[in-house]
Amino acid sequence: MFSLFSLISLIMIPVICSQDWQVQYSSMMKCALKGSTIHLSGSYKHPNYLTVTERFWIVNPIKDKESVNLLKHPDYSGRVQYSPDKEQTFVLKLSNVTHEDEGMYCLRIVAKEDKYLFFPGIDLKVTELRVEIPEEVVEGESSVLFCKTTCNLSDKTNFTWYKNSKSLSESIDSNQLLLQSVSSDDSGNYSCAVRDQKHLLSPAVTLSVRYPPKSVSVSISPSGVIVEGDSVTLSCSSDSNPPALNFSWFKENQSSAVGSGQSFIISSFNSSHSGCYYCEAQNKHGSQRSASVSVTSAERGQTAVLYAAAGIGAALICICIIIVVIKTISRKTGDAGGKSSISKQAKNISTAVTDQTSAKPPKTADPNDLVYASITHSRPREQQRAGDEDEVQYATVQHHRNTRNTTAEAGCQYGNTASAGSNTEKAEDSDVIYSSIKYA
Ligand SMILES: *[C@@H]1O[C@H](CO)[C@@H](O)[C@H](O)[C@H]1NC(C)=O
Ligand SMILES: *[C@@H]1O[C@H](CO)[C@@H](O)[C@H](O)[C@H]1NC(C)=O
Ligand SMILES: *[C@@H]1O[C@H](CO)[C@@H](O)[C@H](O)[C@H]1NC(C)=O
Ligand SMILES: *[C@@H]1O[C@H](CO)[C@@H](O)[C@H](O)[C@H]1NC(C)=O
Ligand SMILES: *[C@@H]1O[C@H](CO)[C@@H](O)[C@H](O)[C@H]1NC(C)=O
Ligand SMILES: *[C@@H]1O[C@H](CO)[C@@H](O)[C@H](O)[C@H]1NC(C)=O
Ligand SMILES: *[C@@H]1O[C@H](CO)[C@@H](O)[C@H](O)[C@H]1NC(C)=O
Repeated sequence: MFSLFSLISLIMIPVICSQDWQVQYSSMMKCALKGSTIHLSGSYKHPNYLTVTERFWIVNPIKDKESVNLLKHPDYSGRVQYSPDKEQTFVLKLSNVTHEDEGMYCLRIVAKEDKYLFFPGIDLKVTELRVEIPEEVVEGESSVLFCKTTCNLSDKTNFTWYKNSKSLSESIDSNQLLLQSVSSDDSGNYSCAVRDQKHLLSPAVTLSVRYPPKSVSVSISPSGVIVEGDSVTLSCSSDSNPPALNFSWFKENQSSAVGSGQSFIISSFNSSHSGCYYCEAQNKHGSQRSASVSVTSAERGQTAVLYAAAGIGAALICICIIIVVIKTISRKTGDAGGKSSISKQAKNISTAVTDQTSAKPPKTADPNDLVYASITHSRPREQQRAGDEDEVQYATVQHHRNTRNTTAEAGCQYGNTASAGSNTEKAEDSDVIYSSIKYA
């Protein structure tokens, strides 16, 4: 930019001519935080015979070009103050420093006899604070966060650390924050500041702790009774960071995986698919398997009974409605009464219909009782057995609530205790179906 030699000559000539000049700057280099206010000072002694008329600071002096007094410099307007605190110390106070302010700041002294420039002056560097975190922070390991600057702040600088905008313990003065045995609680937004300039906070940096899969569970769709020929989907869910990349599906007592991917689909279920399934979720930090879930179908015979029951029930309801309607019509024809009685009867019809169609067993003695009872008793013994097997299946999903769970075949080696809440709800749905057949 400018020739150092010519500058030196510019400075040295007056100095040589006047042996008593002494100038001392507060430092050679100043590292300032962007936005902060800085003080640059220069002390000097001049030969007695000189009469000093003017003192000011300039930036980046250029040879043969008169430098502008910073107080009058357009780029510094409103930000410069001079404080001649001692007779021969001249301080520049510059506020709200920006990167554009970087440069060489020198003291200029004008006397009646001559002008003097003292070079080199103070080299100003401007920095911002920046939190630096390791590329990857893994649970259980320890890691160090740094509060970085591009130039060296004073050795005595104390730092303050913030997590999610809250100040961490005041005792951390260092520009390093050590996290020992990281846990997922350490995830968050970190920033740092210099203790006595807390308003100049660094931008926040997000720390995302990596961990292997946790809470791995399987859910089954459809949630109700599985009928042979149905399409059945098993889905694996887990909590991990990064999200699990690999899912493998296993069937108990089968050595190799039966499938991969987050979902395992059996497009047409048959008895050979029955068994205990579990999934294993894996990311680069490790893997975890889910509890086993039992998947079995309702057998064909029983399904037929189910459909038959539904059919007979529907038919009976229709018959009842017809009977009620016929009765109403016959009464209506026999009765020459007013409109009010007709409307009352119409109300009765509607309540009767809703009672019969509701899922709850009717409270009053009516033909429906007989229907349900007859289904239960007419069920052949083999089907009763098949029903028990299903009972065991659902009991397994329901954390062994049913004490009749004795069939080893349907009990999964690893109980499904870790399964998601939704699974349990689904199991209770199916429980409703079964109990309505058995006890109604
Ligand atoms: C500091 O400078 C910036 C831009 O140069 C300006 O937006 C901001 O208002 C200034 N702050 C103060 C306190 O003067
Ligand atoms: C900051 O100071 C350290 C020693 O304390 C030194 O190694 C490093 O080079 C300095 N950095 C700059 C940018 O001056
Ligand atoms: C930094 O903190 C120490 C003790 O916590 C204190 O003695 C020292 O004066 C502080 N330095 C600055 C520059 O505030
Ligand atoms: C961290 O910052 C991100 C955006 O930078 C924000 O979405 C997230 O909610 C923050 N987290 C906390 C815990 O404040
Ligand atoms: C996913 O699993 C396959 C086979 O088990 C393995 O070859 C692959 O490396 C795994 N990928 C990841 C990211 O773990
Ligand atoms: C799998 O084998 C173990 C013994 O190796 C047995 O206890 C378990 O009942 C078997 N599970 C199934 C579903 O066959
Ligand atoms: C069940 O379905 C599989 C195909 O998914 C087929 O290979 C197998 O023979 C079927 N088993 C029975 C008993 O139908």
